Amino acid sequence: MALYMKAAEILEKAESKQGALKTLVYDSKFSNIKQLFALVCETHKFSSILEEIIESTKLLKQTKLRMHLAKVLTYDLLMGRGVKCGGNWKTVMMKHRSRLQAALARKKVKQRVSKNEDLLPSSALRPAGELLPRYVRVNTLKTTVEDTVDYLKRDGFSYLGQASKLDDLTLKKRDFVRDMYLPELLVFSPKTDFHEHFLYKAGHIILQDKASCLPAYLLNPPPGSHVIDACAAPGNKTSHLAAIMKNKGRLFAFDLDAKRLATMSTLQLRAGVTIHQLAHQDFLKLNPDSSQFKDVEYILLDPSCSGSGMVCLQDDDSTADQEKNQMRLASLASFQLRCLNHGLKFPSLKRLVYSTCSVHRQENEDVVTAGLQQNPDFRLVPLLPQWPERGIHPLNQCLRASSTKTRTHGFFVALLEKHIADKKCKQEPAVHFSAPEELPHSMSKCQKRTADSETSETEDKPTSAAVKTGNTPSKKKRKKKKKRTAATVDK
Ligand SMILES: C[S@@+](CC[C@H](N)C(=O)[O-])C[C@H]1O[C@@H](n2cnc3c(N)ncnc32)[C@H](O)[C@@H]1O
Repeated sequence: MALYMKAAEILEKAESKQGALKTLVYDSKFSNIKQLFALVCETHKFSSILEEIIESTKLLKQTKLRMHLAKVLTYDLLMGRGVKCGGNWKTVMMKHRSRLQAALARKKVKQRVSKNEDLLPSSALRPAGELLPRYVRVNTLKTTVEDTVDYLKRDGFSYLGQASKLDDLTLKKRDFVRDMYLPELLVFSPKTDFHEHFLYKAGHIILQDKASCLPAYLLNPPPGSHVIDACAAPGNKTSHLAAIMKNKGRLFAFDLDAKRLATMSTLQLRAGVTIHQLAHQDFLKLNPDSSQFKDVEYILLDPSCSGSGMVCLQDDDSTADQEKNQMRLASLASFQLRCLNHGLKFPSLKRLVYSTCSVHRQENEDVVTAGLQQNPDFRLVPLLPQWPERGIHPLNQCLRASSTKTRTHGFFVALLEKHIADKKCKQEPAVHFSAPEELPHSMSKCQKRTADSETSETEDKPTSAAVKTGNTPSKKKRKKKKKRTAATVDK
C-alpha cells in the first residue's frame, strides 16, 4: 500500500511539474527505491493511455480513487505484476478488473496492435537495445546450473548454450543462454517473468541484474573465510557471497534500514543461506578492532548511491534539479568515502570490493581515488580484461556497466587489495584477473613495477621480501596502524 501511495504522490508532482521524476523518487527516502522507480516510470510512460482507460470506465466515480492513485493501480493491474497490496484497494481493483481489461483490449483492437508497448507514441518508446535481458542467477546453495537448465528445458524454454558475444544476449521469447562472464548466470528475453515460477519461489534462482552479480563474483571469498557485507539489504549480494563460500565461514551483514533487513531475512531463508549474521547496525559505527572481526579478510561495500544507473526514463532534470543533484552527489560521495575508509581499517583485510549502481564519476572513480590516496597500503586489482566497459581513465582496472555496452543497468565496481608499500607486491592467485592494458597515472610505484615486469599473479610472494627486510608481523602492524591514523581524514 505504501508503495502505491508514494508512487501516486510522486507521479502527481512530476506531472504537475513540481520536480523531475528521478529527483522526486530519490528524495522520497522510500525503503525500496528501485521498485518505486520502476513503478513510477512505467506508469508515467503509459500515463495518457491509462487516463483514457480510467475515464472510459468511469473508475474514479465508482471507486472514489484519485486519478494518480488510480493510474498506478491500473498500471500494475493491467500491465505490471498485478496489484500487490491487500485490503480495500485490491478489492476495488479486482471488482473492476474485467471492465478495465476490456477497455485496454478495445484500445489495442482500435489501434491494430497486440502489445501494450505498441500503444505508445514512437517518442515514448525506448530503443530496442535499452530493454535489458532478464538475468537469472542460479543459486548454487540449492541446485546446479545443469539441473536448472534441464528443468527449464522441460518447462518449454530452449537452451542455446553459452553466449560468446554481447549480441547473443538479444534473445527471442523462450530462448535462453548462459552468460559469457558469469558462469552461474542465465540470460532470457527481457519480458520473461519468473516471479511466479517454482524455481524462483523455491529459491533455486535469484533474479539479479548481471552487473549486480559482479561484486561478489570478483571478491570471491573462499569457503571458510570471514566476510563483511557492509550495506547488505535486501541481500542479493549476500546470498551470492554465501553461495561462493559454499555456506562455510562467517558472513556478517549490516544495514541501517530495519524494513529492508526484514525482507532480507526472508530472502536469505529462501536462498538457503545459513552462515550470515544479520545486524541492524550502522557500518560506520563498527569497531574494526573488535575481536569478532579479527579474521575478516574480505569486505563487500555496496553503499547507498544516487541509483543513476538504473535504466528508466531519460533524464528530465531541469537546471534547478541539476544543482540539487550536485549537492546530493557531493553528500553521497562523502558518505561513500567514509564507508570505504572505514572498511579499509579492518586489520586482517585482504580485499574489499566497492560498487555502486551510479553512473556518476563523483560516486565511483573519485571515491576510489580518494580512498587509495588516503590508504596507501591498498591498490586496485585489474578486473576481467575482456569486459567491454572500463572505469574512467586512469582507473581502467575498474569496471563500468551500462545498457548499451554490457546490456545491464549502469554500474561501477572496483576491487582493492592490501599490498605492502615499497616491497615486492603480492597478488593472490585469482582466475578473474589479469594485467591491466594501460598504466593509469594514479598507480602506486608497486603497481607499476608489477605491470612493467609483466609479473604473473602467482609470482612475487611477499613472504621472502618481508623476511629480507626484517618486517616482522608485529612491526608491520605497528607501521600500518601509524599510516592509518595519518591517512584517515574522514572520520
Ligand atoms: C545499494 S543498497 C545495498 C544493496 C545490497 N548490497 C544488495 O545487493 O541487495 C545500500 C544499503 O545501504 C544501507 N545503508 C546506508 N547507510 C548505511 C550505514 N551507515 N550502515 C549500514 N547500512 C547502510 C541502506 O539502508 C541500503 O539498504
